[in-house]
Amino acid sequence: MSAIPVFAPQTVIEPFRVKVVEPLPLPSRAERERALELAHGNLFNVRAQDVTIDLMTDSGTSAMSQEQWAAMMRGDESYAGARSFFEFERVVRELTGKKHVIPTHQGRAAERILFGVVGGAGRSIPANTHFDTTRANVEASGAEAVDLVIPEGLDPESEHPFKGNVDVARLATFLETHAGKVPLVLVTITNNSGGGQPVSLTNMREVRRVCDRFGVPLFLDAARFAENAWFIKQRDPGQQERSAREIAREMFGLADGALMSMKKDGFGNMGGFLVLNDDALALECRNALILTEGFTTYGGLAGRDLGALAVGLEEVLDERYLAYRIASTRYVWDHLRAAGVPLLAPAGGHAVYLDARRFLPHVPPAELPGQSVSIALYREAGIRSVEIGTVMFGHTLADGTQQPAALDLVRLAIPRRVYTQSHMDYVVEAVIHVHAHREALGGYRITEEPARLRHFTCAFAPL
Ligand code: F0G
Repeated sequence: MSAIPVFAPQTVIEPFRVKVVEPLPLPSRAERERALELAHGNLFNVRAQDVTIDLMTDSGTSAMSQEQWAAMMRGDESYAGARSFFEFERVVRELTGKKHVIPTHQGRAAERILFGVVGGAGRSIPANTHFDTTRANVEASGAEAVDLVIPEGLDPESEHPFKGNVDVARLATFLETHAGKVPLVLVTITNNSGGGQPVSLTNMREVRRVCDRFGVPLFLDAARFAENAWFIKQRDPGQQERSAREIAREMFGLADGALMSMKKDGFGNMGGFLVLNDDALALECRNALILTEGFTTYGGLAGRDLGALAVGLEEVLDERYLAYRIASTRYVWDHLRAAGVPLLAPAGGHAVYLDARRFLPHVPPAELPGQSVSIALYREAGIRSVEIGTVMFGHTLADGTQQPAALDLVRLAIPRRVYTQSHMDYVVEAVIHVHAHREALGGYRITEEPARLRHFTCAFAPL
């Protein structure tokens, strides 16, 4: 009898099994049509019970692990000095190396506090690309949010391995011409608004050097830091032998502080933090925290949340998880690419982005092609995605027409540890179906909109 060759599976399996199940809503097409009508074409207004596969966001939608649920049970709900806070603080400090750990109820609360203190009229905050709430909080403070991503980061077809990189030359020029006006430089990892694309360690080190040259602090928007660390391990020369944790610690070590929405790589359904070393700045931020979020040892979170987040922040750096996570996003991307669906390249960490301008070449950007694709995916298959394009980043001009955004994308964000491969096969099939019948899709117009962050609440009508 000859020996069987070593089994070397090609299939990347989910490194977990299911213990609790949640029924999947299966509304009929008529029900979906009705839901769209009631929502005025805005998928943020559709009830979750009318959505079959919810890819609107990977934020706050993770499945928690048994260890996280156990931590929930152990949560200490004391108002001040809860044990859960000290667990949280220890884990966050161990990862980020920062002296001050300030919990917040989510990422944007940390943004509002930080930019409320360092922002203000006449100030500028450069970043690779600001996420929408980050930009809004910078602007709400009176400051200006400036995006300085490398040119490849704006080209949906470029296969650059680190499309989230900061354009270091432009940053240096910017800091030179805006001397005294830049309280900090922000690097978003991964670069969500640019397609979930990573920033290389090499680039972060260069940004650090430029910041040092001009004496400006560097902060990270670290919502998806673990996915970014995994991409560095895969793609950045010389990083292959290091662990994701070591890489993550170096990333945080390069920065003077960080903001994090822990609803992403914290495996939290709610939560965030602000960390920094500067004592005076930390004091001001804590005072602002107490005003609206809560005392410094809970920041708007329950003790049980802090406990679960502390566990999540450790789990997310498990390399078997990260390998599965990035492979599962890539799986959807590969199948859509093979079928000729226009995508933003390469595959991102948390999401696959359809390139709506190439998907619907007959719908001009001012007629919101991303919104059209996104509505079609819901109507045809009950899949909820989100437009990241002219609706989110453009604006209505005086003559009522739309000033288009740089790109028109539709994001299929993949919640962590939630959907299986057959769910993703269904998504792939649906996108291919809508793409095959793309000629039937037309444009949209905005009929009502608020002054800021319009995509959440505006209403649409087909043209
Ligand atoms: N920064 C980035 C890069 C984000 O992606 C988000 C949220 C935030 C900050 C704000 O965090 O939601 O906890 O207040 N992104 C979600 C998304 C909403 O769908 O991409 P938050």
